[in-house]
Amino acid sequence: MASDDRGMWRRTWAWLDERAGLSALRYPIPPHANTVAYTLGGISFVGFLVLALTGFWLAQFYDPMPDHVRASMEAIRTEAPLAAFVRGIHFWVANIVVVTVVLHILRVFATASFKRPRELNWLAGVALLAITIAFAFTGSVLKWDQEAFEALQHNFEIAGILGGLGVFFSESFTEAVPVLARLYSAHVSILPLLATLLFVAHFFLVKHHGISPLPERADAGAAPGGKVPEAELGARYTGHLGRMVGFGLLAAVAAAVLGLVFPAPLGDVPNPDIEVTKPPFFFYWLYAFEDWFGVQAILYASLAFFTLLAIVPILDRSPLRSLRRRPLVAAGAALVLLVVVALSVYVFFAPVAEHIE
Ligand code: HEM
Repeated sequence: MASDDRGMWRRTWAWLDERAGLSALRYPIPPHANTVAYTLGGISFVGFLVLALTGFWLAQFYDPMPDHVRASMEAIRTEAPLAAFVRGIHFWVANIVVVTVVLHILRVFATASFKRPRELNWLAGVALLAITIAFAFTGSVLKWDQEAFEALQHNFEIAGILGGLGVFFSESFTEAVPVLARLYSAHVSILPLLATLLFVAHFFLVKHHGISPLPERADAGAAPGGKVPEAELGARYTGHLGRMVGFGLLAAVAAAVLGLVFPAPLGDVPNPDIEVTKPPFFFYWLYAFEDWFGVQAILYASLAFFTLLAIVPILDRSPLRSLRRRPLVAAGAALVLLVVVALSVYVFFAPVAEHIE
């Protein structure tokens, strides 16, 4: 950069900084916070922002009323300006975010970052996972094809099992607004609001506690109170911010390319008399339980999974953080992971089955 350019850049920065306090973002963080493993949460967050932006565009053309929904989906696919391209990004970024959130949980688990004093932030994370899944579920129903219709039938079945607790998810809750339109309002207003509140809590706690220490350093007694000592904070948050935005945008570009090569799917108009689809890949492991034990198994397996996840800080209470020093916990987690992956592979190859009566 020429020195004139540098001078202008510096003056612009100083002008903005004086008014917006941008240099507050240059606070010190430990160098390991800038590795990819410790940036997965940030990448997921940028993914959520891309989903919001692309969602704003899709909402201009989508109509959730049952009589109009298919026509609006066809318009999005064929003639609405840029809508097919934007839908491709929305669909693929959603899939990428599911993967980065899972990898984020695995990193937090492996480095024991849920241990004292970060237990409450783990719980905020568990709630964020539930919201992520709810976004994915409602989103997959909105496109209103055969898969969407069957997913909604599962929603009704499970609402029925829950009885009074499930009435909100049933058709009988209100006759004024069709279920599809209510799911749409969940997707574009209720869930974004809940996610925003949880993000604020999650990020406040990350900032409050600082990023967790490297497990080996903590086990060597070099991180009293679960915090990295100030003398070891050798990097800046602005570097972290740059990386998470950079990786997040890279994911969006990858999603755009994927969307052009493999357009977001839109199956046939729903036929209520048949059951011929499988759910999105992240629900495969639940589909296996459903195959063996019926629809109610989806409810019980999900409840068991979330309960197990929520009580991780209780199950793994020792002060040790390195995975090698937590062999039992590591073996338990590896077993759960193995079961989920094995069941997913099984469902990938298994034929479609009928579950709804
Ligand atoms: C749904 C989207 C989520 C987003 C956008 C998100 C975002 C973040 C971000 C930006 C950080 C800072 C460090 C990093 O990026 O690794 C972080 C840390 C953390 N997250 Fe998440 N998170 C999400 C879900 C979860 C889930 C599902 C859990 C656990 C079940 C979780 C538990 C934690 C914990 C305990 C920390 C502190 C880690 C440390 O200090 O090393 N998060 N999260």
